[in-house]
Amino acid sequence: MALLEMLPSFVLGLIDPGFILYYAVEAYIQTLLIGLREDGTIPSDLRGRAFGKFWTKISGAPPDPAVALVGSATLVPSTFAQAQGTVLEIGPGSGNQTLYYNPAAAQIKTIYGAEPANELHKLLRKNADSTKVGPKYRIIGADATKASITRELLKDKVLEPGALANNMFDTIICVRVLCSVPNLEGTISDLHAMLKPGGKLLVVEHTANAWRTTKGSVIARLVQTVYMLLGWSYFVGDCSLTRNIEQMLRKNTSERWETVSIERHFGKAVLTYISGSLVKKS
Ligand SMILES: C[S@@+](CC[C@H](N)C(=O)[O-])C[C@H]1O[C@@H](n2cnc3c(N)ncnc32)[C@H](O)[C@@H]1O
Repeated sequence: MALLEMLPSFVLGLIDPGFILYYAVEAYIQTLLIGLREDGTIPSDLRGRAFGKFWTKISGAPPDPAVALVGSATLVPSTFAQAQGTVLEIGPGSGNQTLYYNPAAAQIKTIYGAEPANELHKLLRKNADSTKVGPKYRIIGADATKASITRELLKDKVLEPGALANNMFDTIICVRVLCSVPNLEGTISDLHAMLKPGGKLLVVEHTANAWRTTKGSVIARLVQTVYMLLGWSYFVGDCSLTRNIEQMLRKNTSERWETVSIERHFGKAVLTYISGSLVKKS
């Protein structure tokens, strides 16, 4: 790893995702072999189980406060600290970032963590319980759609029978998840519908490299395509490296959003990021 640190940051930004893909493929093969050894069959939901194993390995434990954050991790604490009121967190994963709600704990009423990967729920509960917002953190086994979130909130009796999850959240947080939802345009419409007027959608997402602009890189954009061809989406939980998430968030701005404030980071890297907030029109 010391050798890697000597590489120019541009080169590191191209090869970093290779390690992620390596760990995802490793978890897939291990999950497959364990299933075959146990009862001679391919495990049901092989991809989901392998993703849970992989994500727990690379992102299971909360960050060590003694170690400085690097890369996209630096964008997360200030995002979580803006949460307030009734919060919906889409795809919290292992919950290893839940501690970043701590500075906002007094202004948060309830957090609903919509995590469709059931195999991550135990760790998510453990990590949430180790923070100040633990008692306010409710895990729901929903995906990012309004239909699924409504269904789970009805089950938990948070919604009255027949009600929909419209206009109910003060804050919705998406960190590294809009790359994986099956229908990005529909998801953004649903998130907008679920926000209260004046509510905030907070995002930290990797996105397609803006190679046509001076801030982007043609090489990084090509390498994004190479990783996709190597099976990135299949092994990394349906994640896409080549989605233009910023463009989709900005769609219908004048009808939907009072303000849109989005910044780009690490423009020359394969995992190029956007972060920011969108405030729903009142
Ligand atoms: C790359 S992980 C990010 C986890 C966490 N937000 C983080 O930044 O560490 C993506 C997460 O989104 C979840 N996810 C995948 N598809 C989803 C969907 N359609 N709706 C909601 N969550 C989804 C995955 O199960 C996983 O926990």
